[in-house]
Amino acid sequence: MANSFDVIIIGGGPAGYVCAIRSAQLGMSTAVVERDKLGGVCVNIGCIPTKALLHSAYVANLLAHDAKELGIETGPVKTDYGVAMKRSRKVADQNSKGAEFLMKKNKITVIKGTGVLQAGRKVKVGNDVYEAKKAVVIATGSRVKGIPQIGLEINRTSVISSDEALFLEKAPATMAIVGAGAVGSEFADIFNAFGTKVTLIEALPRILPLEDAESSDAITKSFRKRGITVLAGAIVKKATVTADKVTLEVESGGKAETIEAEKVLMAAGRAVNTENMGFKEAGVDVTDRGFVKVNRETLETTAKGVYCIGDVAGPPMLAHKGSREGVHVAELIAGHHPPPIRYDNVPSVTYCHPEVASIGLTEDQCKEQKLEYQVGRFPFSANGRARASNETEGFVKVIRGKRYGEILGAHIVASHASEMIHELDVARENEFTVEEVDLAIHAHPTLSEAIAEACLDSMGRVIHI
Ligand code: NAI
Repeated sequence: MANSFDVIIIGGGPAGYVCAIRSAQLGMSTAVVERDKLGGVCVNIGCIPTKALLHSAYVANLLAHDAKELGIETGPVKTDYGVAMKRSRKVADQNSKGAEFLMKKNKITVIKGTGVLQAGRKVKVGNDVYEAKKAVVIATGSRVKGIPQIGLEINRTSVISSDEALFLEKAPATMAIVGAGAVGSEFADIFNAFGTKVTLIEALPRILPLEDAESSDAITKSFRKRGITVLAGAIVKKATVTADKVTLEVESGGKAETIEAEKVLMAAGRAVNTENMGFKEAGVDVTDRGFVKVNRETLETTAKGVYCIGDVAGPPMLAHKGSREGVHVAELIAGHHPPPIRYDNVPSVTYCHPEVASIGLTEDQCKEQKLEYQVGRFPFSANGRARASNETEGFVKVIRGKRYGEILGAHIVASHASEMIHELDVARENEFTVEEVDLAIHAHPTLSEAIAEACLDSMGRVIHI
């Protein structure tokens, strides 16, 4: 029957489309309902285009500040955000087309439109009703949000979100960014490189507050060196908004400050897409925080045969966590017994320069949990490959359980931290000890040698410092 599938997935982002591929691989007839482009926020207005812009920012900084020392004369460096933006759009489109291709390759039906749940594993799209024989999977993701209570409603001209920042034709002269999580910190890096005077405002005592305090400190220093104004422990009390200017009244360290900016970029978290989904009628409950209520092991909602994955299923709101949940749920629906998802082993990466990556516990969390631990550190200023590349900012920090030598947490600030963290991710997933990570011979000269050195340092045996 044309309107009947084994599995129907609502939402074609990195959680939904990956779930669809795994479902199809397991022999289940599969449909994805998507109202916009395949790939979701990540591919179209998130992870992928920001990485393209961050690469432009990296090259701009390299040419402006380092090229001469590397023996390359460039003359004055001019940047053009519009050109960088257009390239980032091409990259995003290529990735979205890639997702379309994967749907065809795996014989997955893509239904264009907004899916609404109905009781009995049915999904309504426009006037059509589709039936899922085995399961419906909710993967509707999240969207940007403002803070209307203090006058910061996103108006898409002077108060913008990442959605608009990714389509600007030129970099504004001044920008205040509210929120210094991953979104705020990545855009601070981008716009600073394109000549914008950036003020980064974070309510909690330090930027990237979920990262280890030493990582936050390193990025604060790096940002300030590049001329970004970093205000941490700063609360925006009131905003006065006109079409071409915003005035923010901020309280920081007991002092009142007024900040004027051509644009304010809201980066203070995201809201999940749960409205008008027919949840009540279908028996799908939501939590006090607005996420869909799921059984943490099976990801099944309060409605039998209806599952939920990705941002809408709860934090961390990360593409790779959503994709993993997609694979997991597809395998469960097919009757397999996949190992449980290790939510304590999801890597976190912020792609500013230098990059910040981490896995496991921060040192503060180890203290809170009263764990006995030893810390090993290795700075890139002592790493040959980093010196050769003229990228010596940052460090590797490994937190070792004192009794068993397990990796409680690892924190990397480095030019390529995003690529390096997986060594420690694999190690933790397989319960390798800090000793075992060092025993694996690391090629010389590489940035990854700093991981082995930090492991050695945690045992008092560091070689190169
Ligand atoms: P976030 O929740 O990670 O960070 C928002 C920050 O805004 C917090 O540090 C919070 O303390 C601060 N904040 C909240 N209200 C404030 C106020 N009134 N004044 C000043 N600061 C305020 O949210 P973000 O960065 O918007 O990202 C949303 C989600 O998307 C997160 O889960 C994030 O991890 C994910 N994401 C991941 C990326 C990556 O992996 N590289 C990139 C972009 C987003």
